[in-house]
Amino acid sequence: MTSTFIEIPEKYKVKQLIHQTTYLLNGELVKWTGATSDIYSTISSTEDYKPTHLGSIPVLTQKEALMALDAASEAFGKGKGLWPTMKVADRINCMENFVKQMKTKREEVVKLLMWEIGKNLIDSEKEFDRTVEYIYNTIEDYKQMDRDSAKFHKHDGVHAHIRRGPLGVVLCLGPYNYPLNETFALLIPALIMGNTAIFKPAKYGVLLISPLLEAFQNSFPKGVVNILYGRGRTVATPIMKDGRVDVLALIGHSRSANALQDVHPKSNRLRMVLGLEANNPAIILPDADLELAINECITGTTSFNGQRCTALKVLYVHKDIADEFNSRFSEKIDALKFGNPWDAGVKLTPLPEPDKPAYIKELIDDAIENGAQIINKKGGQTTYNYIFPAIMYPAKNDMRVCEEEQFGPIIPIIPFTDINEPLDDMASSNYGQQVSLFGKDTKTLAPLIDTLVNLVCRVNLNSSCQRGPDVYPFTGRKDSAVATLSVHDALRSFSIRTFVASKDNYYNNAILEELLDSRASNFVSTDYIL
Ligand code: G3H
Repeated sequence: MTSTFIEIPEKYKVKQLIHQTTYLLNGELVKWTGATSDIYSTISSTEDYKPTHLGSIPVLTQKEALMALDAASEAFGKGKGLWPTMKVADRINCMENFVKQMKTKREEVVKLLMWEIGKNLIDSEKEFDRTVEYIYNTIEDYKQMDRDSAKFHKHDGVHAHIRRGPLGVVLCLGPYNYPLNETFALLIPALIMGNTAIFKPAKYGVLLISPLLEAFQNSFPKGVVNILYGRGRTVATPIMKDGRVDVLALIGHSRSANALQDVHPKSNRLRMVLGLEANNPAIILPDADLELAINECITGTTSFNGQRCTALKVLYVHKDIADEFNSRFSEKIDALKFGNPWDAGVKLTPLPEPDKPAYIKELIDDAIENGAQIINKKGGQTTYNYIFPAIMYPAKNDMRVCEEEQFGPIIPIIPFTDINEPLDDMASSNYGQQVSLFGKDTKTLAPLIDTLVNLVCRVNLNSSCQRGPDVYPFTGRKDSAVATLSVHDALRSFSIRTFVASKDNYYNNAILEELLDSRASNFVSTDYIL
């Protein structure tokens, strides 16, 4: 693949470096004068390939990390803090104030999404807009949850006023593929439920948090959100070791989640909200509408270059249709346009991890050694920052590309004759997030659906896998997730049911009535938020 350099439109050129010289600690944007780390984009600004310098971030140490933990713990204040005891309506006001300011930063954040992680313009805009919508939907859902709890129950002579309360301090770590959306899909529900947080942005997609720092600072009480920069090992590990973290919220690899969980001194006390790796298959039955299946598999395997946990990572195609599927699929993959994120109609874009093309090449070599071939003309063509999607056929389940989550442009196709072949592979896989099932005959589909729902958590009928719409449950079995995220489920995942109980007698009832009339308690309240 030749590197065809096209002049970058004026609007998207990097004109000013972003040197992030502060971090958010206990409500202050604290100046950092220590070591820094340069941030580069794998996208070149010049005709002769050279990574583009975008700016720098602080490399904080264990000391700042523990100060952030102190700040978050103090803000929770042993349950007495301003934030966890605040009226729901007041926490919502803070969140509304935040999102209002966030919306003004759309252009800056979208530009940085393109430069830092190579996401195309349309998808970068979608990531921003989807996140804003997620915040509004979270606010609405929380209001509904609050309305539903604005009442008393009575059973066996005991009155109960039941609500969901915060868990405490949350350490929040997001992934590079959705550095805004997935991180905020953890952080926002965690905060609105009254928890306090320490958040470290992903390695790639870190500068795009800079335009939002002031909004975080001025929307929430001090210590409620603390934002750290630096290496996970230096910053996140000591925070976990300390034992004061109540929830580990992480979207990333199970290796990182396990390492962090292992150092927490009280694992029984640690709650986890994890979105981890997946290896979602597509199963294409012989009676499938091939045009539809091919188009969905193209979206599923190549959108954001396969760097999505929900990407289709292996295609099981019935042998009777494999030749036709392969030739039409290959032709369409080869027709996808590679270019910079802002180029019109671009589908394939530079990979943000500099060593990714070499890793994908290793997977290709391993598959070839084990009997597969690249079946599309452009497959494996490499430039400095990209490797064209390679379709590997016939792939086998024990090839590295099927065992590892490739998270990049390589597509293994496994031919099958007996449906138990993909089902057995899925049952023995370490992952269990989603599957795509392509076919028409309901007599065949029905028993398959009934089995697949027990192996994964979402069966996509004649469509590629995806997380959205965000109101639907997003979770996985085995190594793919812990807890469930959706607008509603995330609020539950970051909270616990807690209630006030009182025996039905004159003495207690008079107290309850006075509590309600005086509006002195923010918890014992039947006020309705409209
Ligand atoms: O990387 C995993 C994301 O949650 C995928 O979300 O299906 O909307 O691309 P998506």
